[in-house]
Amino acid sequence: MTVLLVFLVYAIALSVALAGAGHWGSAAASPGESRPRPERILIVGATGGTGRQLVAQALERGYAVTALARNPSRLQLSHPRLTVVRGDVRDGASVDAAVHGQDAVLSALGHKRYLGPTRILSQGTGHLLRSMEAHGVSRFVCETSLGLGDSAFRLGLLYTLFIIPVILPFYFWDKTRQERVIAASRARWVIVRPGVLTHGAKRGAVRHGASVGNPLWSVRISRADVAAFMLDQLESGAYVGSSPGVCW
Ligand SMILES: NC(=O)c1ccc[n+]([C@@H]2O[C@H](COP(=O)([O-])OP(=O)(O)OC[C@H]3O[C@@H](n4cnc5c(N)ncnc54)[C@H](OP(=O)(O)O)[C@@H]3O)[C@@H](O)[C@H]2O)c1
Repeated sequence: MTVLLVFLVYAIALSVALAGAGHWGSAAASPGESRPRPERILIVGATGGTGRQLVAQALERGYAVTALARNPSRLQLSHPRLTVVRGDVRDGASVDAAVHGQDAVLSALGHKRYLGPTRILSQGTGHLLRSMEAHGVSRFVCETSLGLGDSAFRLGLLYTLFIIPVILPFYFWDKTRQERVIAASRARWVIVRPGVLTHGAKRGAVRHGASVGNPLWSVRISRADVAAFMLDQLESGAYVGSSPGVCW
């Protein structure tokens, strides 16, 4: 009983800390500025679940796409408007080479090194933002997660009381650092916070904004719909400088 109580206090304290440390500002969509459509976009995390969707849908929308991949052969896609470059976000030089010449950057960076302290997301995102500033690239759309900053407790009880405190505490802590790095940057950024991701098809109709998510159950969304929402942010100024949640 005491152990359970101590664990509950730890789990709740962690969510409070994730709330305090993450970004606050998931504003409701506003008309925003009209944004000229970029032509050349860099996709980071292109070999991952959301990243593959970003690449495919960006090509469908007519963009010239550069995909940053640690292992380009994993992408298994060729297209006349697709360039795949080898790079690692921990390596500033490879990031710099990929960012050069782009109009916008989208990141669906993630990893599975859950079991110890990590800075891959925050450090890699810092490299991206520094290169963007150096090359005059201002538009940045980055996928993080519900459960951070002002969306803490919104990934449902299972995540708040078990999955985040037991499996993902280091990973989520790095995500808060990642959000702070983005918010402190001079980029025109949008942080996209999805609910639990699925490999399902794109439905098209998604809920987005500050009130997305639920303290009791876990809201879901497919990676395909997250990718579509992220690409939409390139053409809309509605969420610039804020961190909308997104779910079905
Ligand atoms: N799973 C969920 O339910 C859930 C919910 C909300 C938010 N999210 C977040 O959403 C994001 C995307 O998730 P996902 O499952 O679609 O992605 P994913 O399949 O985990 O893919 C992550 C991508 O990041 C790349 N990557 C990892 N380390 C890298 C490095 N050092 N340099 C360059 N690229 C690197 C991976 O490349 P390799 O192919 O080389 O590994 C891969 O392309 C993640 O941040 C995740 O935490 C997930």
